[in-house]
Amino acid sequence: MSAERVQPKLIIHGGAGSSLKGKGGVESVRKSLYRVIDEVYALLRSGATAQAAVIHGCQMLEDDPRFNAGTGSVLQSDGQIRMSAALMDGASQRFSGVINVSRVQNPITLARALQTSHDRVLSDHGAAELLRELELPAYDPLTEIRLQEWIQERQGNFSREMAGVVAERELVEDTAGRGTIGVVVLDDQGCIAVGTSTGGKGFERIGRVSDSAMPAGNYATARAAVSCTGIGEDIIDECLAARIVVRVDDGQPLVSAFERSFREAHQHQRDLGAIGLDATGAIAWGKTSEVLLAAYHDGEKVGDTLEWDDGLLVGCLPG
Ligand code: GLY
Repeated sequence: MSAERVQPKLIIHGGAGSSLKGKGGVESVRKSLYRVIDEVYALLRSGATAQAAVIHGCQMLEDDPRFNAGTGSVLQSDGQIRMSAALMDGASQRFSGVINVSRVQNPITLARALQTSHDRVLSDHGAAELLRELELPAYDPLTEIRLQEWIQERQGNFSREMAGVVAERELVEDTAGRGTIGVVVLDDQGCIAVGTSTGGKGFERIGRVSDSAMPAGNYATARAAVSCTGIGEDIIDECLAARIVVRVDDGQPLVSAFERSFREAHQHQRDLGAIGLDATGAIAWGKTSEVLLAAYHDGEKVGDTLEWDDGLLVGCLPG
């Protein structure tokens, strides 16, 4: 490795929530996350840019029916799937995204196409038009498990506020979740990028907009990047991703920016989680929810937060 090259870093998430259904649930989520970590980190080792690595990681997570993004997205109150995704490149400090798009396999692909466009955030009809322009095939992201979850919820007149964080074969009452996927990368040139994608909360009213395609849920500069998960309204109220990143831009170390922001979120009784990294190679994660489904590669080792339960709001690895 030449002197200017830096050690790539990677952290991803598959949502946050109130419980994973036992050990079997933990192990299968871990397997899904590590498959993405292994493949994306191999790309980074071979010189992929931060943006390319983020896109690849988001596509893999969107294609995994376990997570609430792309295939396996939750259904909204009217039984339709509407997905949102955003990409932000730290070097150019450009945000692009799509809001409430349907019939596409990888919403993050649309966000990427918009990176170089004059109009960089499109909602439902505009995103559908973009899909046609790009000649992407129509795709139905519905899975049987998510359909059954919606049918069960309809029978209960939509009493739950949201769908499960991960799709599980046996539906249980206590898996209230805030599913989203996110990928944050530092590449070997020292460039940072972040992507976030979601099917939303599940069972929400038509037209509700997720945090994932807003700077509240997905934000990067040349110094730091953060992807959020949790209840979108809580993330928007904290403007969490931008809040953490701006603190780093203003000179706070990443871990302090996470600690301060999560103390505030906890005081405000928010239900959310976030992952991030900075240009020094520090990696951090935080949650006010019970579980955060995150995994990372720091250049030497792979780890995760699936059974992280030390009572602290924030965890970190130094740069
Ligand atoms: N964080 C995903 C959502 O609330 O839509």
